[in-house]
Amino acid sequence: MLQKQCLKTKRVLILASGDGSNFEAIVKYFQDKGLLVYDDAKTSLQKHIRCDVADKTSQHKVYIELISDKKDANVLKRAHRLNIKYHYVEFNNLETFLQNNILKKGQGFDLYVLAGFMRVLPKQILDLMEFDKNKIVNIHPSLLPEFKGKNAIERAFAAGVLKTGVTVHFVDENLDGGKILERCAFEVSALSLEELEAKIHALEHKIYPEIIEKLLFKKNVLVFGGGAREHALAFKIALSPYLAKLYLAKPNDGFKNLGKIIEFKDYDELLRRALECGIDILVIGPEAPLFEGLVDMFNAEGIKTIGANKAWARLEESKIFAKEFMANSPKNPIKTADYRVVNNIPEADEALNYFKAKGANVPVIKADGSALGKGVYLPSSYDDALMCAKEYLDGKFGDASRKILIEERLFGIEVSIMSLWDGNTLVSFPPACDYKRLLDDNKGPNTGGMGAYAPSKITPVQQKRIDSYLKKLECALKICGANFCGVVYSGLILTDSSKVFDGCDAANIDADNGVYVLEYNMRFGDPEIQALLELLDDGAGCDLLDIFIKMTQKRLCKSDLKFKNAVAYCLTLASKGYPVCPEKGAEISGLMAVKKHNCKIYFAGVKYKQNTSDSSLDFLNSLATNGGRVMSIVRSADKSNPEACIEAILDIYQTAQKIKYDGKIYRKDIGK
Ligand code: AMP
Ligand code: GLY
Repeated sequence: MLQKQCLKTKRVLILASGDGSNFEAIVKYFQDKGLLVYDDAKTSLQKHIRCDVADKTSQHKVYIELISDKKDANVLKRAHRLNIKYHYVEFNNLETFLQNNILKKGQGFDLYVLAGFMRVLPKQILDLMEFDKNKIVNIHPSLLPEFKGKNAIERAFAAGVLKTGVTVHFVDENLDGGKILERCAFEVSALSLEELEAKIHALEHKIYPEIIEKLLFKKNVLVFGGGAREHALAFKIALSPYLAKLYLAKPNDGFKNLGKIIEFKDYDELLRRALECGIDILVIGPEAPLFEGLVDMFNAEGIKTIGANKAWARLEESKIFAKEFMANSPKNPIKTADYRVVNNIPEADEALNYFKAKGANVPVIKADGSALGKGVYLPSSYDDALMCAKEYLDGKFGDASRKILIEERLFGIEVSIMSLWDGNTLVSFPPACDYKRLLDDNKGPNTGGMGAYAPSKITPVQQKRIDSYLKKLECALKICGANFCGVVYSGLILTDSSKVFDGCDAANIDADNGVYVLEYNMRFGDPEIQALLELLDDGAGCDLLDIFIKMTQKRLCKSDLKFKNAVAYCLTLASKGYPVCPEKGAEISGLMAVKKHNCKIYFAGVKYKQNTSDSSLDFLNSLATNGGRVMSIVRSADKSNPEACIEAILDIYQTAQKIKYDGKIYRKDIGK
């Protein structure tokens, strides 16, 4: 299949006043990639060429021009040497020059890059450069907002800071203001001023060209799925400066206005349409498309994906496969409950006798395959266990339960860990707590999740043990050659409440004392991720799409996930009858309350009422329930401020009260 693309040369105007080392780093970066074109005549020829992406030589090109406001600036010499078109323009004449010369044909630049430009741009120039469309970037040698203005490195050094670094940001009317795109920090330790300057400049030369490239070549992203989890992911991605256009596959009516919908009958059609739209990255929310090999189909056509391929989706799809994975490295096995694989009733008898002889608690019965989250049964007696085993083996869940596990029962605190894996590196979110049961105090049937908060309330010792477990997980994924780019969700139970930690060295087999894996999922947890996304430190430039892009390039780093010192809560509003047979079709009102209480809503089981136009004006009054989990209400607060945390929970519950529909149910104990 062919992917059609419109290749347009991207035009960059760099403004610099001084030595120009950043200018040269940017030019060299694009030159080394073979993307640089040198003059406008050639450039215009390259416009609007339609071609086949399978032809690897067809890539967008970059054209760079330079302006300096200093006549004798070294940057002008560099431009001359590098064969880049340059202009010396006195600052007072800059506006006129831009208007009359290089912007005159109504042809602006795609990006204006300040690279050591020692001036604050006045409003008229900002307007000419379309600053309101985020077209101007700057790099500053400190961790903004600290040390704004000139001589930032010297001032940070003189102040004796422990950490400093580099900030790249969009430019607005304020000195070194504007949205932060990236903030790279390092420890100053025993560096001299000269060494510090060298380190900062080296860092600038590395990160600035990469960010410029991402801003020039933004991504078309397709988010697949129609729950609150996918609404949250789409919402975050829609805010990214690196997004070209957002597309949605199977969204619910509550968030379909965030992007352009791709309609399809089957995966072949979805793939065809995705290629036509020039989708760069597919982000998959639910597990079914992973099991069905959607990732493999897209990857075969060169579209990057966030989600496991069919082979690795088995970590969620088959409990036996997961057990085998955990035992992959005899020297370094991942801890999990003792178990027996059972294919028939005599084997079930044998397995139950094994646990009885061990003096173990009544074990757990698990269908090997995927049973829509209902395949785990916690029996009250050995007789109950045998009965359940028989039902499962008889095909209670079809083929999914023709093979079962009988598994030792564990007791402890449960936490969900979402990790990102790019094929080389594993990076994790803080532990989250999922409220699985329908009713308060963890009573009632298991559900998809009635609420969540993050980070979980665990001790530093438990966190260290989890960190040790995560090292083992990363190691196991590497050893097994896990060749996918996506999510690994570890459902953990912490069985050891002792406060003594016996070392966090991964070589120490007991460093993950008491951390047992109950299950793996290969997708983000719903509703955990709705809370976890609130923790991403967007103020420090931590951007979800940016992280996804790095993953698809196998460049994920441990420092890519930056978190705020916050706690986030998520409450699920559900429909009467959930999880067995939820009511549908009740009109929803009161959604305006959300804003008043600073909450976010992510929709799940909702649908436009009949006879409603798509007009966004009456959007909040147009929805009716259409499923078990109707929506998530999310709010975060400063973790170090207990009153703010209480207020956040109160806000969520006041919002929940004001949102009205027949049959509304929700838990009252989230975060308490
Ligand atoms: P799963 O579908 O594997 O997530 O299991 C659902 C729930 O069953 C888990 O969240 C646990 O609360 C419980 N569970 C699963 N396995 C065990 C076990 N070995 N011991 C105790 N509880 C378990
Ligand atoms: N909240 C649990 C899950 O997503 O499976």
